Amino acid sequence: MTPLTLSPSAYPMSVTVTAATADEMRHWARKVASRCEGGDVIVLAGDLGAGKTTFTQGLASGLGITDRVTSPTFVISRVHPHPGDGLGLVHVDAYRLGTVAELDDLDLYADLDASVTVVEWGRGLAERLSPHGLTIVITRSDADDDDERTLTLSARDERWASILADHGWWAA
Ligand SMILES: Nc1ncnc2c1ncn2[C@@H]1O[C@H](COP(=O)(O)OP(=O)(O)OP(=O)(O)O)[C@@H](O)[C@H]1O
Ligand SMILES: [Mg+2]
Repeated sequence: MTPLTLSPSAYPMSVTVTAATADEMRHWARKVASRCEGGDVIVLAGDLGAGKTTFTQGLASGLGITDRVTSPTFVISRVHPHPGDGLGLVHVDAYRLGTVAELDDLDLYADLDASVTVVEWGRGLAERLSPHGLTIVITRSDADDDDERTLTLSARDERWASILADHGWWAA
């Protein structure tokens, strides 16, 4: 689970880590959750079954959300309020959204500031929701008998660039 690469020369900052199991995936997600602020949009990319929803479950648990988080495929987006006064989670599955206009139709902006918004299949589409957040690309191992996933996290703002640059915090 040690960060594999840290690329301080690249802007935006990016970090690559591995998750051997679904639990490790949720571990990285809880770490991300601990640094989230309202208005962050986390764009998740990766093939079918890569682990995007698993990551989102870890993120929800890290935010203190007690709702069960499942794939929102059939509803496209689902709001999980925080049981207290913490940040809520807006979980979007953009798999069947083709255009920016369709994304805008979901009217996610009302919930944005008081929430962390996660958009599965959102790359190239959901970044426009907010200038703040991260893009995370998840890839699977080529070997059939290997569950390992590789996550490349790229900052889309300066705050996340400095969080990702904190090597000690990531490795801990
Ligand atoms: N290292 C791992 N990281 C994440 N998930 C893993 C890992 N190893 C096994 N899994 C399993 O792989 C599956 C990933 O499914 P998940 O629904 O999270 O993927 P997804 O990317 O959201 O898929 P979809 O594109 O259909 O939305 C889960 O059943 C999870 O338990
Ligand atoms: Mg999913």
